[in-house]
Amino acid sequence: MTMTTPRPITSALDARFKPTLYARVGKENSFTLESYRADGGYEAVQRAFALGPDPVIDEMKKSGLRGRGGAGFPTGLKWSFMPLKDGRQHYLICNADESEPGSFKDRYLLTEDPHQLIEGMLIAGFAMRASIGYIYIRGEYVLGAERIDAAIAEARAAGLLGKNVLGSGFDFDLFLHRGAGAYICGEETALMNSLEGLRANPRLKPPFPAASGIYNLPTTINNVESFCAAPHILRYGADWYSSMGTEKSKGNKLFQISGPVARPGVFELPLGATFREIIYDFAGGPLEPIKAIIPGGSSTPMMPWNDAILDTPMDYEAIGAQGSMLGTGGVILIPQDYCIVNATWNLVRFYAHESCGKCTPCREGIGSWMTKIYEKLVRGGGKPGDVELILDMSDNIAGKSFCALADACLGPVVSSIKLFRDEYDYLIANGKSQYGGRSRWAEE
Ligand SMILES: Cc1cc2nc3c(=O)[nH]c(=O)nc-3n(C[C@H](O)[C@H](O)[C@H](O)COP(=O)(O)O)c2cc1C
Repeated sequence: MTMTTPRPITSALDARFKPTLYARVGKENSFTLESYRADGGYEAVQRAFALGPDPVIDEMKKSGLRGRGGAGFPTGLKWSFMPLKDGRQHYLICNADESEPGSFKDRYLLTEDPHQLIEGMLIAGFAMRASIGYIYIRGEYVLGAERIDAAIAEARAAGLLGKNVLGSGFDFDLFLHRGAGAYICGEETALMNSLEGLRANPRLKPPFPAASGIYNLPTTINNVESFCAAPHILRYGADWYSSMGTEKSKGNKLFQISGPVARPGVFELPLGATFREIIYDFAGGPLEPIKAIIPGGSSTPMMPWNDAILDTPMDYEAIGAQGSMLGTGGVILIPQDYCIVNATWNLVRFYAHESCGKCTPCREGIGSWMTKIYEKLVRGGGKPGDVELILDMSDNIAGKSFCALADACLGPVVSSIKLFRDEYDYLIANGKSQYGGRSRWAEE
């Protein structure tokens, strides 16, 4: 393992950075309308009303905000895909399904600052001429659902939702929908099926949701954090927003960190802060030697623990150049003496369990073959050639499944073999991991 040393915060936290998304988290009663308004809440939507719908979309484009649900698609551009004067009902959907291991940022936006999300959706609805919005929240987020429900009721009572919002002439209402706890429901088209009361299988794209979304009508789906950025972009301006971050990755972002660190949690930083900054300066440093970093939620390829990676800026381009992805910004640290095959099997089991079964590469490839081979490996029955078989299967699954769920599973699988092939070989040759005590699942 390469030894690393903490360094002072340098690059990203300069004067332009202003925490906004989580600025109110931790305040007493932050989830109430009274508290939100005392901090200037619902002023940004008034600015949106004064600007008009198209300038709001322009402002979002200019800000450089990219969707925070994982894929990083430019938000303003997505908003501009909605038809303008087609006379049909338009819909907005907030994706609050947040089910990927390592991702837990939206949870606190929902429980601690629900009015920030409602204001973001109001701005988005106004810009895209949508008068109905849904918040699709994962079933396990019980407190989040309660707080959103209460905030919607407060907003309705205050004339912030419903007919003629704040006398603007704009009608907008919001409805909360609770999922039943399935990762596939976070995939935007499966989510729409689920909202319609159908089985949550993904739909074929194109048509994309802006052309044919829920009930086959124009729909825009964004992540919770993406909507929550909108009030701040409207309040402080696109120039301020795009002054934070790096050349192509603009603004601030919620990073999550889990694994053996002194202070696991969620930290709001500008894009381009380094792994070293979040791990040492914010999360208090590792509690034990680390061998791998998963940078952006469990679907993103593992990266080795070394100085070059620690000094990599956490932005879309720099992490991409290192062979991984920013994803949701959910950083997971894997300890040095933790069997990588077991760690990977744990993730494979998650994806196998969550496969919706619609397409063969995912249902059979991940749900059956991949799971069985990993189980055989960790139980000590691996044979020479198994790793080649996993790689061959991965090759046959990659890019061939109906949605990105199967590819998400391949992220940790392929990267763990590339980085830690020796651990696979040791396990196959000896029937047990060199880190026996830490290979928890093998004993189940
Ligand atoms: C299997 C799967 C699960 C997903 N889960 C989520 C999720 O929980 N939350 C989310 O915002 N996006 C999730 N996505 C991405 C969404 O399909 C979609 O890209 C996103 O909601 C768009 O919002 P954004 O443009 O604001 O990022 C998932 C995608 C896949 C393939």
